[in-house]
Amino acid sequence: MNWVYVKYFKDHDGEEITVRGWVYNKRESGKIRFLIVRDGTGLVQCVLVKSELTLEEWEKFSQLTQESSLEVTGMLRAEVRAPGGFELIVKSINIIQIAIDYPITLKEHNVDFLLDRRHLWLRSSRQHSIMLIRNELIKATRDYFYDNDFVLIDTPLITGSIGETASTLFKTEYYDFGTAYLAQTGQLYLEAACMAHGKVYCFGPSFRAEKSKTRRHLSEYWHVEAEVAFYDNNDNMRLQENYVSHIVSRVSQKCRPQLEALERDISLLEKVTTPFHRLSYDDAVIKLQQVGSDIKWGDDLGADDETILTQQYEKPIFIMNYPSKAKAFYMKRNPDNPETVLCSDMLAPEGYGEIVGASQREDDYDLLLHRIREEKLPEESYGWFLDLRKYGSVPHSGFGLGIERTVTWICGLKHVRESIPFPRMLYRLYP
Ligand code: 4AD
Ligand code: MG
Repeated sequence: MNWVYVKYFKDHDGEEITVRGWVYNKRESGKIRFLIVRDGTGLVQCVLVKSELTLEEWEKFSQLTQESSLEVTGMLRAEVRAPGGFELIVKSINIIQIAIDYPITLKEHNVDFLLDRRHLWLRSSRQHSIMLIRNELIKATRDYFYDNDFVLIDTPLITGSIGETASTLFKTEYYDFGTAYLAQTGQLYLEAACMAHGKVYCFGPSFRAEKSKTRRHLSEYWHVEAEVAFYDNNDNMRLQENYVSHIVSRVSQKCRPQLEALERDISLLEKVTTPFHRLSYDDAVIKLQQVGSDIKWGDDLGADDETILTQQYEKPIFIMNYPSKAKAFYMKRNPDNPETVLCSDMLAPEGYGEIVGASQREDDYDLLLHRIREEKLPEESYGWFLDLRKYGSVPHSGFGLGIERTVTWICGLKHVRESIPFPRMLYRLYP
């Protein structure tokens, strides 16, 4: 059998080939019947001509329902009017399984109905495009770090040290040690690894028990984090804008058909070039107050604040040097204003908001210990982390980017739940 995927049809014009896949749609007009088959890489129009088929083959068409699985053999020929530019003149059909009453039809369904059937929804063309974009984004990420001499360090997902804030921890029993946590970040371990390798990154799931329903939060998300010894916060921002503009440009080049299928305005993505805008937290607060936000100096930016702020920009913006009390314990105190820390959040434009959290790390033993105590974190779990400030401490910085929020922005989606194959949220563990 000459099995060929739709995406490779252009190399097989005029050959007899077999396509394996699922029925997407069908229609007929008299003595010609059209079967639209999807094979995971594309759609092909299969043409049944009554005069050229046995009655048995011709009648198989009537049994076939949406999402039935099959193999179709026939002659491939270029046809500009067909979707994808080819059609398959059918010689024979091998039905593998008939799907009865496939629940997702080509009409519109509401989101909860679709999320309950996420295992099937993934087959639909919009979801298919989103997953291909996600795939490209992750490949571009790995390539970027590899090509720029970063070493991949896989950090643990079960941990005894709280990485961010105690309020969003998932807990689990861990043998005789009592409670362990699912990692919110790999950062603390990357800090150790950057003292061994210089430039490191990790890519894996992070867990946050987010007890609120928002369009930006998942309980489990995929997190790309990088850490570099001897980088200060400015070096760190240059790295981030370089990385983010690289992946956006790669996706806009390689996933044009998918972005078009999602009706994304690609010209906006093409504007994502370095340098990104830089705004201090102080200025952001003033700007927000001017447009009516009730934010006060000292508060973290709320989701609405981020939306308002980023609607005014076409490129991502860095908000720099937040108040220390709004941020995590490990951020380095700003020598110019000890009430603030050397950090930045990168906010995606068009209202999308935070996609990256970043900072220079506190590298002074006493100041770090003071912050751990101030936050009432279990000091005994941080001995190893404090060691890094005892044995050759150096300035170092890093960041974490949420893959789903980035996919959501690049695809122009309304909610982060469509950017991950099987979303985990406050009200969802199924499928
Ligand atoms: O800002 P966050 O909490 O920063 C950290 O975890 C640092 N330790 C990163 C570092 O410096 N190595 O999270 C980083 C990013 C956010 O900007 C956001 O994109 C994403 O992770 N994120 C979430 N994405 C989806 N659902 C959630 N509940 C998320 N929480 C954070
Ligand atoms: Mg953050």
